Amino acid sequence: MAELRVKRGKIISQEMTVPGDKSISHRAVMIAALSNGPCLIEGFLPSEDCLSTVEAMRSLGVQIDVVSEAEGLGPTALRVHGRKGKLSCPSEPIDCGNSGTTMRLMSGILAAQSFACELTGDESLLTRPMKRIVEPLSKMGAKINARGSGGECAPLSLNCGELEPVHYLLPVASAQVKSAVLFAGMQTSGKTIVTEPAETRDHTERMLNYFLVKTARNENDVVIWGRQIPESRDFKVPGDISSAAFWVVAAAAQAGSRLLVQDVGLNKTRTGILRVLIRMGAQISEVVDEREQGEPFGALEVKGGDLTGTEVSGDEIPNVIDELPILAVAAALASGETRIRDAHELRVKETDRITAVANNLRAMGVMVQESYDGLRIEGGNRLRGARVPSYGDHRIAMAFAIAGLFADGETVVEGAECIDISYPGFEDTLKKFASSKLADEAKRKTNADAELSESDSDSEGSVGGDDGNGIEKG
Ligand code: S3P
Repeated sequence: MAELRVKRGKIISQEMTVPGDKSISHRAVMIAALSNGPCLIEGFLPSEDCLSTVEAMRSLGVQIDVVSEAEGLGPTALRVHGRKGKLSCPSEPIDCGNSGTTMRLMSGILAAQSFACELTGDESLLTRPMKRIVEPLSKMGAKINARGSGGECAPLSLNCGELEPVHYLLPVASAQVKSAVLFAGMQTSGKTIVTEPAETRDHTERMLNYFLVKTARNENDVVIWGRQIPESRDFKVPGDISSAAFWVVAAAAQAGSRLLVQDVGLNKTRTGILRVLIRMGAQISEVVDEREQGEPFGALEVKGGDLTGTEVSGDEIPNVIDELPILAVAAALASGETRIRDAHELRVKETDRITAVANNLRAMGVMVQESYDGLRIEGGNRLRGARVPSYGDHRIAMAFAIAGLFADGETVVEGAECIDISYPGFEDTLKKFASSKLADEAKRKTNADAELSESDSDSEGSVGGDDGNGIEKG
């Protein structure tokens, strides 16, 4: 099992990009596969999760050609040959791997096809709640069965056919469930409405509109009309703000640091992390690029400083749901208390992220209280390097690699291979951060000094230490 070894980092002075957005990459492949012709998808994220979607679509008869690859990482530009809404019966159960997005969104697509099929996945995916998909799709007339634990989990059997439109009130604020119902609704003969209890990421609606499928938004209602086939188009996936979040926190929590992230997605339903960090005292600015292609994107600049604790709760939760592990690390580095509430959904992610974060922060010497739907974190004390498990969860592994940059001694993240689920190349970037920080030492000093004299602040308050800067995989 791969171990990621991280030692204390130094002040960051970096310009970077991050790989393509995971949520958008899944949707781009799915919508292109349903479209009426070839679509070039650039900036595709070649991660294990997104490749599960590519393989699922291939097993359904969709031709997907690799147009270009990033060195050692896999395909980053794909040509997807749309099948005008009609897929072919797969010869085997479709393996969604670790990807909840693949399983839930594909269910919505498959529910209206004219063949029976089965969706399965890895050990973690087979424990995640699927009743939330079964319920709305059954209401639309799909014959869908969760055959796993207590009739609530995958494998899912679908015996598909004609669907009826529905007006569905989401019991949980979930973009995955909303998207599954919209994909199913697009294949009915009428108008489907999904009402969200709180706003969730809107990539499906945006991308459908970009592919000329008509949808509408009316307060909390999202409407889609049936009998629509996406019009084939080319699409460029922006960088993933959820991947950028790790570096953004690393820079924001270190006085004297400066980070510029280019070409990153800046969709408001995903940038909640920036608003929370700004509330904690971080200096972050965004510049949105004018050449929007269905999704806003642009540059993010972060200047490090002292953070203070905050509360994250209520309607803000769906907008930061994937960033809560790294926000919990930011909270440990901030002075004072941070409360995270209303985040019970974290318990049913790739692992129980509330318990995973609490255990790992405690191992690093942080005072944490866990509640059913959140955490109370006492920040501001020095972190202690420790051996921490990833729990097979990519975001836990990356969040604690970043925590290791701020800890005394060495932090070892066990089971770090899961990082490839969403961020192939994370480790190389972590190394580059370290080496370029070393190489940039002199420049950094000059910058930090210049900033010091400009802002008259005290950079000695930063967590930067001198006991090495190594990152190794063991
Ligand atoms: C996603 C939605 C979120 C998020 C997941 C990706 C998506 O899940 O946690 O990583 O692409 O729609 P929920 O919809 O279950 O909240």
